[in-house]
Formats: sequence, structure tokens, C-alpha cells
Amino acid sequence: MFDFHATVWYTIVDFAITGHYDLARLGGNTPAKTPRRPRERRFYQQEEKMRRFGTQGRVYPDRHYVVPRTEEIADFIQRVKEGRYIVLFAPRQTGKTTFFRLALETLTTQDTTYFPIQLNFEEYEEYAAADFYASLYREIKKEIERVFRKHRKVPADALVRFLENTTITDHVSMHEFFRKFGERLVYHHNNWQRVILFIDTFHGIPLALENSFLASLRSIYLTDRPYCPHSVCFVSVKSIIQRDMVNAVSPFNIQDAFHLPNFTFEQVRELLTQYADEVGQGFGPEVVEALYKQTVGQPFLVNRLAEILTEEMDILKTELITMRHFSGAYARILQEHNTNFEHLLTHIRRDLRFEDILMRIVSHSIRGVFFDRHNECIDELTTNGVTSKGNDGTCQIANPIYFDYIRQIFGTQLKEIEQESLS
Ligand SMILES: Nc1ncnc2c1ncn2[C@@H]1O[C@H](COP(=O)(O)OP(=O)(O)OP(=O)(O)O)[C@@H](O)[C@H]1O
Ligand SMILES: [Mg+2]
Repeated sequence: MFDFHATVWYTIVDFAITGHYDLARLGGNTPAKTPRRPRERRFYQQEEKMRRFGTQGRVYPDRHYVVPRTEEIADFIQRVKEGRYIVLFAPRQTGKTTFFRLALETLTTQDTTYFPIQLNFEEYEEYAAADFYASLYREIKKEIERVFRKHRKVPADALVRFLENTTITDHVSMHEFFRKFGERLVYHHNNWQRVILFIDTFHGIPLALENSFLASLRSIYLTDRPYCPHSVCFVSVKSIIQRDMVNAVSPFNIQDAFHLPNFTFEQVRELLTQYADEVGQGFGPEVVEALYKQTVGQPFLVNRLAEILTEEMDILKTELITMRHFSGAYARILQEHNTNFEHLLTHIRRDLRFEDILMRIVSHSIRGVFFDRHNECIDELTTNGVTSKGNDGTCQIANPIYFDYIRQIFGTQLKEIEQESLS
């Protein structure tokens, strides 16, 4: 596809480097291109390798600017090594998948005795028990084969036979499977491999199966060590404890909750500096501050604003990114429909009581709302990253972008309320 802006940009760069415009790029009549000179070639090779601010799901260090979250990863790995059953729990688009993949990569590169089985329950919500466990087994088997391939090892014949002749039909046979699989790994492959089970989007598990599934893992955890899996990591938008409270039973009171925070100011600065170092275009210091302040480090929002500034506003790469540009990007993000705002809207519209609370928080004329975590609505809005506790003990909107967005949504209603209070 012809990308006019990119073309114009390359043409300008061409001129800066070679002193010539390549009119063919702009649809001009220049004859066939002459081969590039070495300096030019270097530039274009660099350009092809250039990374971006990622906003479409998980980010990859070779393609995107990535906050390494080194300390959090070290903490997480320590817990895995100790054989804990962890729940990594945070609202939508806060970097759960990216984090746990990076952590896994770091751990298995450091130490090949860890045997990671990675699953995702995203698509199971409507599944019946038999279909769920059949698919679960297929995925586990695929993962086992993948790990052997990655380690350049061949599974022992007995292990292959075991995998071929096994089925998992329910939580009891799943327990049985892990016990036998763990034993065979030890028996046939000299060094003890510690199996780690990672389950992304755990909340996608069919609701009717959740308790028995967790009870089964809990009973593995409570047997004598070594047990298989050695560690389990659930990635979810809800803490399992909270779900248990809803279900009024607690089959999983052994979980180790891992909170994934928003980016700190330093992490935001580091992310923007990666771009500045690579491209040579800086962000003014007040822009870095504003970007952090308006997003409070919410990972998606940070990246989306940076993406608008670096890719969608046609700011020359030779120009410093200033507050004038930032205001433009801010206005633009508030006008768009991105998946993050869609999630936000879904939460707001789910319950009329939510609308009422949010309206009271964003209104300039109504007194604030006390942050009471025992209030079911406030708890749910906070769990989903919409609200948070302010320093004065009141409930506030999680970041200024959400605040402005919510005010926009309630526009007319808010105006009426605010005018009424003036009259
Ligand atoms: N380590 C990181 N460095 C830079 N940006 C990140 C990082 N982690 C997450 N992000 C930003 O957050 C977005 C969402 O990341 P990711 O898909 O990992 O989150 P998630 O919590 O798993 O989302 P979901 O709830 O949709 O499953 C990314 O597209 C990117 O904009
Ligand atoms: Mg995810």
C-alpha cells in the first residue's frame, strides 16, 4: 500500500543524506534507481530494524520499546523457584502477558531444569467439561513436545508411549496425569525437571469447572514434595480469592498474589529514552512528565500517546517533541475508539450503580465519594482499573485520561447536574 507520509519522510531523509530527492518515491519521473551508497544503505537497514511503541497486545523486545521490569521479574522468578502457586492479577492491558512471557524467557534461559507448560484459557468460556479437558490435554502435550524440541532432547520411548496412551477427562485424571508425568520425567530423564504451569487468561475457564480444577491443583500442592507441577502461575484480571468469595467456597487458599503495578515515572522515561536513542528524536522533559502524569504509568496509555506522537502527527524526526505536540496527541487520544476505552466503557455501562458513582466522582458540583473497598461497586471498578484510592481517602478515577474520557461520556448529564447546582 502506498504510504504517503512515510514516503514523504523517506524522501526528506534521502535529501538530508544524499542531497538528492528520489522523485520516483513521490510518483515523479526519475528513471530506475541507482544502487544506494554505503552510508545510505546503513541508514535504511537501520530504519528497517527500527522498533515501535506497541499497542496491539503483547510487546516483543526485538520489535517494540519495552520496559524490562527487571526487579519485578526477579521477584516473580524467586517465587517460582520456591515452588509457589502464584496469581498474577491486574486489570486489562496492564502488561500481564508481556510480563509473564518475559519472566518465563528469563527463567528458562538461566536454568534449563525448568520445564514450562504455557496455556491460555481465553477461548474456553463456553466449553463443556469433556471438551475443555480434551483440549487442555492436547495443549499440554503440544507444550511438552515443544519444550523437548527447544532443549534439543528426545523424550524417552516410555514417555512418548505414556503421552500417547493418556487422556484427561476431568480434574481427577488431570491430577493423576501430572503425578505420572512428573515421575516419568524424573525416571527417564536423569536430572529432575521442575514443571511450571503458566495459565494466561485464567478467568476464561468454564465457570462450572473452576472450583474442581483449582481443588485438584490445591491437592497437588499439599502433597509431599517434589510435586508436579512444581509451580503454577495464573494470569487473570481477577484475584482467585475474590472469585472464591463470590462462589462462597475456597478451594484455593494457597495462592500467592502477585501485583503488577503501572510503570513508574523512571520506567516511562526509560521507555521514551529507548526511542530517543534509537531515532535521535527527543521528548522535551516537560512532555515526559506530562505523559506520566496524565497516564499515571498505565502501560497501554503510555504507549498509545507515544505512538501518536512518533508515528501519527507528522512531526519531523529532527524536531524535539514539545508540549504543543503533546496537547495535540492528548486531544486525539480522547477522540478515538481504542480497545482500552472499549473495556472502560464496558465496565461503566455494566451496572447503573457504576454510572452513578463515576458521575459523582467526575462532577465538579457533587461532594466526593468515600473509598470503601467493601462497597461491591467500588471494589469492582477498582479491580478493573477504573478507580483508585486518593490520598484524602476518597475514590478517584485511576488516571486523568480516564477522568477526561468519562466526563466526555457523561457530557450532557453532567452539564445539567452542574448547572442545577449553580442555580
Ligand atoms: N513491558 C512493557 N513495556 C512496554 N509496554 C508494555 C509492556 N507491557 C505492556 N505494555 C503495553 O501494554 C499493552 C498490553 O500488554 P499485554 O497484552 O501484555 O497486557 P495484558 O495485561 O496481558 O492485556 P490483556 O488484559 O488484554 O490480556 C501493550 O500493547 C503495550 O502497549
Ligand atoms: Mg494478556
